[in-house]
Amino acid sequence: MRLFTLIGILAVIVGIAALVFFFGGFFNVAATNPEPAPVSWALIKVRMASVDRNATTPPPAGYDTPEKIQAGAKAYMARGCTNCHGGPGVDWQKFSEGLRPDPPDLTKVVTEREPRHLFWVIKNGINMTGMPSFGATGMEDPEIWSVVAFLKKLPDVKEDDFKKWAQ
Ligand code: HEC
Repeated sequence: MRLFTLIGILAVIVGIAALVFFFGGFFNVAATNPEPAPVSWALIKVRMASVDRNATTPPPAGYDTPEKIQAGAKAYMARGCTNCHGGPGVDWQKFSEGLRPDPPDLTKVVTEREPRHLFWVIKNGINMTGMPSFGATGMEDPEIWSVVAFLKKLPDVKEDDFKKWAQ
């Protein structure tokens, strides 16, 4: 019985300490303050698992014809994706280097993602990061699928083609 009392008292002390730490302003929310390695590892795992479980919509037939890919390039530019992620021959805006987590260079990640993953992330965004929900801004599913088609092609897209398509 003594042991249980001790465990109970310890739990209350830990709880109070956590309340003071977080609500007393001791937790530093600065974007310049990187989270400890185990925390960022866990955040990435949680994000990947969540996207994988929620992204259930398969791509519609014929979503990645050359016309759709070109329309996707145009939408990618018009919707402002280049500001954070850059594009072929287009640098990201300087401010995006101050975001935590850093917006990834999509050329490097798209080969490891399925179309349903990309669609879900663009439509819903990623909470507590700079990645906005474009569904919430009124972007309709067909336009999002065109961007997915463009992204799957992104590693092979030449700068000149992107410039032409995005006009
Ligand atoms: C304001 C900056 C910002 C804008 C604008 C933005 N993104 Fe993002 N995006 C982010 C950030 C930050 C992340 C990384 C989130 C994370 O690490 O969890 C991200 C992540 C992503 C991912 C997931 C990458 C992965 O590892 O699976 C995709 C796909 C993506 N963005 C596509 C887009 C597209 C397409 C657009 C335009 C329609 C866009 N983003 C606009 C900031 C932005």
